[in-house]
Amino acid sequence: MDFQQQLEEARELVEARLRTFFSGGGLEEAMRYSLLAGGKRIRPILTMKFCEAAGGTLEEALDFACGVEMLHTYSLIHDDLPCMDNDDLRRGMLTSHKKFGESVAILAGDALQAAAFQTVLSAKGKWRHGGQTAVALAAKILAEAAGETGMCGGQYWDTDGNGQPRTAEDLMDINDKKTGALLRAACMMGVCASMGRREVSESCMDAAWHYATNLGLAFQIRDDILDAVSTAEELGKPAGSDAANQKATYVNLMGVEACEVQVLNYTTQAKEALDSGRWLGDTAFLMELADSLAVRRN
Ligand code: IPE
Ligand code: IPE
Ligand code: MG
Ligand code: MG
Ligand code: MG
Repeated sequence: MDFQQQLEEARELVEARLRTFFSGGGLEEAMRYSLLAGGKRIRPILTMKFCEAAGGTLEEALDFACGVEMLHTYSLIHDDLPCMDNDDLRRGMLTSHKKFGESVAILAGDALQAAAFQTVLSAKGKWRHGGQTAVALAAKILAEAAGETGMCGGQYWDTDGNGQPRTAEDLMDINDKKTGALLRAACMMGVCASMGRREVSESCMDAAWHYATNLGLAFQIRDDILDAVSTAEELGKPAGSDAANQKATYVNLMGVEACEVQVLNYTTQAKEALDSGRWLGDTAFLMELADSLAVRRN
């Protein structure tokens, strides 16, 4: 299978599983609306493909993958709220608060976060690694990525800084937390899904951490470039949102061209980091994924 076929295979697997959650009305309708609105599914694909690189199967990581995507979707719903980025369009559809109202959007986000942990903790991973079950380890990794030390902490600094200048170091720290943390969790939880069932080298966890850290920095800079140069039609979310919020980004600090160089540099570092792991499976897909994300159009 070539890269594109593998991407589609992983995406279809996660889409099919995600469709099995939240079939009811009321709050479940709002949860389903955002979760099934499309999206690139990069994080769950990373989880499954890291499991495969660590010698496992895509299916073994599917519950962890769905948990990561639920947590990501919650972060998007809250990120779009009027008190945060105040955006009306997400994944080509009205944002949750525009469709259902603010209180439902907040609750849909809250409930998706809880569902993310429920899904991870319900995974059939009772095998042990270093005294912990795989599910406990995965849930801990996800909690650290979601909370004050990760995504929420990054979002706090990001929105608190609207209208303020930022140094390149500040921005790197914010991007690492608001975006890098969850990508790190996605990759490490994939390794975790394979561990315990087979002898996975600790070097794989390390490599996943460094790959995702660099990928996360590249990913957010690319996102900021697209916000400045693309259109809502292509993005499925508003363009120019950062400028409207007077958000300090690398783009307004150093310009689009220098940002493009940065994206390529971080992508190269991500791939080098991946190479440092002693993998049981193939890493070619993850190498190509990093390259494709560096030039993504949405
Ligand atoms: C958007 O993430 C938020 C950022 C961290 C930049 P994605 O670009 O992965 O959004 P979806 O999941 O494809 O909608
Ligand atoms: C948000 O970054 C990252 C999250 C944690 C959701 P952005 O605010 O730039 O993401 P988009 O552009 O709205 O997707
Ligand atoms: Mg934001
Ligand atoms: Mg935003
Ligand atoms: Mg953005």
